[in-house]
Amino acid sequence: MKQTLIDDAPIEQSKKHWELYCDGHDFRSSMPEYLAKNYWWAYLSPAGVRFFDHPFMVNCILWGQYHKIAADTVKLLSTESDYSLAEISCAYGEIIPKIGEGSNAKEIHLFDIAPIQLDQARKKITANNTQEKFHMFEANAEKIPLADNAVDTSLLFFLLHELPVAVRENVLQETLRITKPNGRIIIADYAPKTKSHWFHRLKFFRNIFETLEPFLGYFWRMDLNTELDKYAAITHKTVEQKSAKFYWHKFYRLLEFRVGK
Ligand SMILES: C[S@@+](CC[C@H](N)C(=O)[O-])C[C@H]1O[C@@H](n2cnc3c(N)ncnc32)[C@H](O)[C@@H]1O
Repeated sequence: MKQTLIDDAPIEQSKKHWELYCDGHDFRSSMPEYLAKNYWWAYLSPAGVRFFDHPFMVNCILWGQYHKIAADTVKLLSTESDYSLAEISCAYGEIIPKIGEGSNAKEIHLFDIAPIQLDQARKKITANNTQEKFHMFEANAEKIPLADNAVDTSLLFFLLHELPVAVRENVLQETLRITKPNGRIIIADYAPKTKSHWFHRLKFFRNIFETLEPFLGYFWRMDLNTELDKYAAITHKTVEQKSAKFYWHKFYRLLEFRVGK
């Protein structure tokens, strides 16, 4: 009898490398696609984490401004004491252990969607013996497992520019939801696009930044205060900017907002 050689089985498409970070390996199936697709090499791959997670590397990526911004962030946090802090996602370098040491917070909720990032942070706070202050958990910043008005201060350290617009909006709304009236929101990140900075003016530089950071262009062009006002209204709060500090000819900024009723 003649045998058919037709294979009816569906052809298994080979997965793209980044897709493995969504549904395989050691990671949760709910890893957001934007993170795996655009940042697997920086935040999810063990080699990337080993390579990037050094103050020197972060300082190079932030054009020599990192130590200043990190120190000013801790200083700004420490203007209050005995408060509860939500650090919305991990960050590389020295900022997490410095917050443990110098922020005057009595308890720090630190979460991230990537377990590998939480493991890194855990090593650092264990090394400087501040781990007792930290409550660490795996969570998506779009749906933070903390009650309304759970914390006095929320910190967003260079997270917002890495988020697609809809995700950024959800994260801001969640930040306002968990922050108490009379509490603070502190944001360190890129500053809006100027007409003077060479990296804003020249398409060549903009293209490099927007290739490496695919959502930065949207962040450069958005009005953060208007967006915060919008999500404050939705969460029945108000938000007022208290201070702003700029770095490197307005390329980066550190903002402090007071949340009201
Ligand atoms: C804070 S941002 C970048 C900070 C900056 N590049 C640095 O290291 O100083 C990077 C972190 O955000 C986390 N992240 C991104 N999207 C997230 C989300 N929706 N929920 C929780 N964590 C998120 C990533 O896993 C990563 O650990």
